[in-house]
Amino acid sequence: MPGSGGEHEPSTPIHSRLNEPLLVGMGAISRWGRHLEGYPRAVSETPPDPGPFDTGLTPGDLDPERPEPIETPFGTFALFECEGEIVAVECWCPHMQGPLFEGTRRGNEVICPWHAWRFSLEDGSCRWAPDGAEQPDPLRILRTLLGPTGTLLLHPPEG
Ligand code: FES
Repeated sequence: MPGSGGEHEPSTPIHSRLNEPLLVGMGAISRWGRHLEGYPRAVSETPPDPGPFDTGLTPGDLDPERPEPIETPFGTFALFECEGEIVAVECWCPHMQGPLFEGTRRGNEVICPWHAWRFSLEDGSCRWAPDGAEQPDPLRILRTLLGPTGTLLLHPPEG
């Protein structure tokens, strides 16, 4: 009987040692080859590259006057036509999160409907803000390409 002290007990029961994890690199796997929760994983185990995101939209589905927001793994974007190309532009204004997809187009710029700040659809930079306003970060813009089934794919953000 355990704890009675009257019998010889091994210091580590054999069934306990069989359940110990194997430490491999910076990770740990069980003796059955499965990763164990709570143990650090190897540094090289970075999440897989998500690859391009399929919008499910063809170029003919787009309304150049009223782009719709699209939820993507990279955030919410709207597809604008700019210089004959379709670009995915961050949907929400960096000033106060106004809906840029409802903004007014002027050339290669979009004007935010809330406070009229203007943003380039080429590089995302802010082209106009009131005097004294802090320059916002540029809008994120993703490149698009046509997928094998004719739908528009978004490249993941770089960096
Ligand atoms: S929220 Fe867009 S300019 Fe203010």
